Amino acid sequence: MSTKKSLLHKTVIACAHPSLALTKYWGKASSKNNIPATSSLAITLSGLTSTTRISTVKKNSVVIVNGELQPPERYSQFFQHAGALCDENLAFKVESENDFPTGAGIASSSSGFAALACGIAKLADPDYPLGEISALARIGSGSAARSVFGGFTLLRAGSHAAEMLHDASFWPEFRIIVCIVKDAKKEYSSRLGMSLSKKTSPYFKSWVLDAEKTFKEACSALENKDIEKLGDLARISAYRMFGTMISSAPPLVYWEPQTIGLLKFIERLRINGIGAWETMDAGPQVKLICLKDDVHRIETALEEHFPDIQALACQPGEGASVSW
Ligand code: PMV
Repeated sequence: MSTKKSLLHKTVIACAHPSLALTKYWGKASSKNNIPATSSLAITLSGLTSTTRISTVKKNSVVIVNGELQPPERYSQFFQHAGALCDENLAFKVESENDFPTGAGIASSSSGFAALACGIAKLADPDYPLGEISALARIGSGSAARSVFGGFTLLRAGSHAAEMLHDASFWPEFRIIVCIVKDAKKEYSSRLGMSLSKKTSPYFKSWVLDAEKTFKEACSALENKDIEKLGDLARISAYRMFGTMISSAPPLVYWEPQTIGLLKFIERLRINGIGAWETMDAGPQVKLICLKDDVHRIETALEEHFPDIQALACQPGEGASVSW
């Protein structure tokens, strides 16, 4: 007779932070299992958090994010893999809250799926290996594989799981200022956008080839803590990703007028000798890369030129965690 305790009616609370890519993942090698076509180098951001309460139930999984019931098809593949971990035919009731805008290009899917994967895996086995939690999170969202880890992470093209390159203490002065241009859900999710770019952008193949080179150079700039080199490469990676987005059919334009205003503003900061570099994701928000010593000057300039923009200064953060 098995002595294994049932996991039915158990609850866990999991937290995770968004993963901001310094060099971008855009496009899937295989859409079936969400395998990335490009390697990405990223930082897990402190200060922005997804908190997720997971309870095991007999059937009918539901996911509620910030009080809104989510479409089940977005989670079905993930739950198939997650359910298999538990050795029982279980379903999940999930209630998640983000303390930052959701689905607006601030990587809420990375922190959301990382928390979910970590919570379910730890329910099944408190010693479940982080690499395997990362592979489970990837089924939900590629960037979530990175969010499972803290600090500086990477997810290689073609791979199932992310890796941590350095924990948050490697470069504690590193900062990302997230500038919120528009707090609204995007029309095209990253998933749809990536598939559209792969199918229709004439530049997609070149993007994939070039991204590997940018990624490798960025990894060595990170090792040397060379902020100028890393900032320049992050900027190039974001703009080249946008090249494939804009050249898709129909064109994917995630930017708002204020996005361009901010991009030009950051260029001017650099011309004036302030170390600031811009990056963006699938949304109108602009993320500014800098070091701690420049944060005050940048925030003051932002307040003066963009008084209605909310700016959140984040530093390297921790990976996903659970409490019972
Ligand atoms: O993980 P997804 O499916 O949300 O895609 C993330 C895509 C980007 O944010 C644009 C880039 C990245 O590497 O995070």
